[in-house]
Amino acid sequence: MASSPTTVTITGAGGQIGYALLFRIAAGDMLGSDRPVRLRLLEIPQGMKAAEGAALELQDGAFDLLAGVDITDDPRAAFDGTNIALLVGARPRGPGMERGDLLAANAGIFGPQGAAIGAGAADDIRVVVVGNPANTNALIARAAAPDVPDDRFTALTRLDHNRALGQLAEALDAPVWAIRDVAIWGNHSATQFPDVSHARVGSRLVTEVLAERLGGAEAARAWIDDTFIPRVAKRGAEIIAVRGSSSVASAANATLAHVRDWVLGTRGGWTSAAVVSHGEYGVPEGLVSSYPVTSHDGTYRIVEGLTLSDAARARFEASVAELEDERDAVRALGVL
Ligand code: NAD
Ligand code: LMR
Repeated sequence: MASSPTTVTITGAGGQIGYALLFRIAAGDMLGSDRPVRLRLLEIPQGMKAAEGAALELQDGAFDLLAGVDITDDPRAAFDGTNIALLVGARPRGPGMERGDLLAANAGIFGPQGAAIGAGAADDIRVVVVGNPANTNALIARAAAPDVPDDRFTALTRLDHNRALGQLAEALDAPVWAIRDVAIWGNHSATQFPDVSHARVGSRLVTEVLAERLGGAEAARAWIDDTFIPRVAKRGAEIIAVRGSSSVASAANATLAHVRDWVLGTRGGWTSAAVVSHGEYGVPEGLVSSYPVTSHDGTYRIVEGLTLSDAARARFEASVAELEDERDAVRALGVL
């Protein structure tokens, strides 16, 4: 077992996703069964009791890998020396709240948390923002930590990626592991573009196999445009409608997979993550956009050189336009 524990800070640790994350991290599902972890639970005062209860249960789990649990409502203490930051806690949209109100409330959370990361996190800090609007919250946090390399700030679109895999596995009657090179482009919102144009099942293009199963290329195209893309892009709303609250276990599972692949590397094929753009595929520099990515040597890298059809590019650009609107709304608040 590696000797010194990795410090993992979870914000909103007393909430639903926090509860689904903590025990799996302690069990080694994120960093592997040879890496001890120290957990830092950041909550607001109203959430402290729930975090304290989770910490009692963590103790009762008697996890071999768990080197300690700290609970705090102070971001500076939460991020001091931390290696991995899972920014889950966010302000949900309340009755009568406009999008601008939501962005303002979250700027008040992710700005100070970004500053605390900049001030005290470990040199190898890696941040994944889960709390919505995830891409723009990551943009805000990153702007508040100018001395931290921008490739350390990411937002979660792995859940969308996994949702796409789940839908394709069902439509193709194939196991998830046989499907590769799916991509999510853009924002973690209903404008995202889930893209199967480069995807393969086994050695064959997904689009070809869909055409065979559905009775031709036109039928495959119609299924992708009218069923697959909206189902994946609006899956969050579907879960809320069916469960009565937003996704929890699948979101936690995707968060663990995002960090695991980031730290340990992707093996064959791509995954999707929202990362800071340096202009790749025409996305304005600095926006946090989802791309197909691979990870090697502990760094997520955008898969470059892919050809996008005019229709694909139009979908991606629409999602990027939404990211620009969110950035402009945050700028108007004087946050960036
Ligand atoms: P939840 O309401 O159960 O928990 C949120 C927790 O965050 C609460 O305990 C709250 O006290 C805490 N919190 C609020 N402000 C905080 C702050 N400033 N510092 C620390 N903690 C704070 O919500 P949940 O179901 O766990 O979801 C959390 C977020 O994740 C939501 O924004 C949700 O929309 C988002 N989400 C994102 C994805 C994704 O794929 N990116 C998927 C599912 C959910
Ligand atoms: C999800 O994708 O499940 C979450 O982001 C919740 C939502 O509002 O869609």
